[in-house]
Amino acid sequence: MINTPLIERIKTNFNTQFGTEPLLVFSPGRINLIGEHTDYNEGFVFPAAIDKGIVAAIDTSDTAFCTIVAADKNESIEFSLNKLQPIPNGSWRNYVLGVVDEVQKKGLQLSPFHLVFGGNIPSGAGLSSSAALENSIVFALNEFFSLRLSKKEMILISQKAEHHFVGVHCGIMDQYASMFGVQDKALLLDCRDLSAIEFTIDFKEYTLLLINTHVKHNLAESAYNDRRSTCEKITKLLHIKALRDANETDLLKIQDQVSTEDYQKAVYIIQENQRVLAASKALKNNNLTAFGKLLYSSHNGLQHQYDVSCTELDFLVDLTREFPEVLGARMMGGGFGGCTLNLIKKEAIEKFTNKASSEYLQKFGINISSYQLKIANGTHRIS
Ligand code: GLA
Repeated sequence: MINTPLIERIKTNFNTQFGTEPLLVFSPGRINLIGEHTDYNEGFVFPAAIDKGIVAAIDTSDTAFCTIVAADKNESIEFSLNKLQPIPNGSWRNYVLGVVDEVQKKGLQLSPFHLVFGGNIPSGAGLSSSAALENSIVFALNEFFSLRLSKKEMILISQKAEHHFVGVHCGIMDQYASMFGVQDKALLLDCRDLSAIEFTIDFKEYTLLLINTHVKHNLAESAYNDRRSTCEKITKLLHIKALRDANETDLLKIQDQVSTEDYQKAVYIIQENQRVLAASKALKNNNLTAFGKLLYSSHNGLQHQYDVSCTELDFLVDLTREFPEVLGARMMGGGFGGCTLNLIKKEAIEKFTNKASSEYLQKFGINISSYQLKIANGTHRIS
């Protein structure tokens, strides 16, 4: 199994600290082929779970407290189940506490437990280590305490934890992909009813290559929530449930009631939603050239209309235009840093990454990393 060293590491850590045999869960990160910021507009996204993720190990605590250990950081927290509050700047602690709180808010009974978690998702890469962590916790609690939650209930718990304890008003894409992922498949997900269609991903002589900018600009969280509020404001003006229900002609009616910037953001969402559907058709017809073009237009929209890209991401996407072997590229995820996603001919990977490494280092003084990730199964019990 791909994650054997990680599983062994977390299991040993648990054994050493608590001396018992824990129940183990694996929960993956995700990539997204296309469809950014469309999830909270009840539109379409096209994610897949990856072969990197988080392992959580859980067992009973014989004290009145729960202990959670973040193995990679060598940090821990002890808390009582009846006093849960978000911790200011609590980082990973708020994801864990938020999930425990949401589970209890559903009236489900927990008793003190020990949990150790750790992972192998490159940090700050925008590969949803947060959703992987939330899902690993809720799934571990569900298995260990036989809570009988469905996967759908679990991802809604993970999402609410992020809203209430972390303060990011995220959509459902990351939690969905991490929980429901299927090996070698991307999921065309309708975020309105959470129905998904599986697409086998095999690009033959092409592959998906991620390039990590290694930057995360710190306005990311507030900017994310601002984008979501803008979409909701426009939705209200249009008297519709979500921007998914609007087209560009509808938008014209309210053009004079919003700023040019906000108007462009709504145009982006409408167009991106159409691009996701067009991308799924292109894949169905094995038309990688058309698929690649859609990746470029998605980036263009994220950069110029939705305004969530950054110089580093734009630089890496622009660089690909010198390579006919790259059919498409775009920033991936929420924006302001993280990775670019590139559809590239396998034989050109080395040539491209060499060029990208040296030019990026020269321009920003930072070394990029590149990853070819496998598409893997969603959250599951290991033992
Ligand atoms: C983050 C959020 C998701 C989604 C993406 C952008 O990853 O958690 O819900 O909105 O940004 O597509």
